[in-house]
Amino acid sequence: MIGRNDICWCKSGKKWKKCHYPEIGPQEDNHKLAHQYLKKYNIVLKNEKQVEGIRRSCQLAANILKAICTMAKAGVTTDELNDFAVKLHEEAGAIAAPLGYGHPPYPKSICTSLNDVVCHGIPDDRPLQEGDIMNIDVSCILDGYFGDCSNMVVIGAITPEKRLVVNVAKECLKRAIDILKPGLELCEIGNTIEAYASTQECSVVDQFVGHGVGLKFHEPPQVPHHTNELNIPLAPGMIFTIEPMINAGVREVVVDPKDQWTARTRDGRATAQFEHTLLITEIGSEILTIPTE
Ligand code: MF3
Ligand code: CO
Repeated sequence: MIGRNDICWCKSGKKWKKCHYPEIGPQEDNHKLAHQYLKKYNIVLKNEKQVEGIRRSCQLAANILKAICTMAKAGVTTDELNDFAVKLHEEAGAIAAPLGYGHPPYPKSICTSLNDVVCHGIPDDRPLQEGDIMNIDVSCILDGYFGDCSNMVVIGAITPEKRLVVNVAKECLKRAIDILKPGLELCEIGNTIEAYASTQECSVVDQFVGHGVGLKFHEPPQVPHHTNELNIPLAPGMIFTIEPMINAGVREVVVDPKDQWTARTRDGRATAQFEHTLLITEIGSEILTIPTE
């Protein structure tokens, strides 16, 4: 009789228990679930090995983001922040996911979105000034796995409108994370975010969404931050971002026709965004993009 620690019958060289050992109980259920989610929603439920790789990538993204945020002070240009991010990726043996991404290829390694820029702001030679608010978005590829997160930085004294969007965006992300658990319908994320934002007289951007992430930069499902009816139940092994963009004025966003990336509020009013990558667990969720340094 073959034992758990014997070499597997398939000649992989691995132990039977690590290879073709028959799966039983919850593992078997999860296998079926993974198959079902792939077929029905095109969503990959990540296995333990993938979760471990994605967790490491997310921790790196969070550490890089934290370091860049610390460097963001009046007088520093967003190009300098980008260059520092490039160096930190290199030192960790990672690649910045944004560089060369999409059409036209995104030209830099991080996004720096200032004041009325909702997302996808491109680093340049403008020095940060007192009164600026800025979202810094870091997405990295480590050993083939993706992690994605962003944070706001505030430069000196800011207007009450800017203060409001920063606070509301942060609270929206927190409230959305707090409800996550298996079985919750995906729409409850956006419903929770918009319900709160509207009590604060802010609007929620609906032209950009959160997304599955991990094996690719952007995977199914899309994660709307506005009120919606997506009835996909969350399941253990799902990994996705929540990245609400909250505006002081109208929700509409206009993409710069020249660079085809920079997305600004239509009315020029302030906007803010925070982003985490989340894993759905058996009992709730885990924030993967927590800095370890
Ligand atoms: N978190 C952002 C997103 O998921 C990162 C954008 S990088 C860019 O869209 F290259 F697409 F700009
Ligand atoms: Co993202």
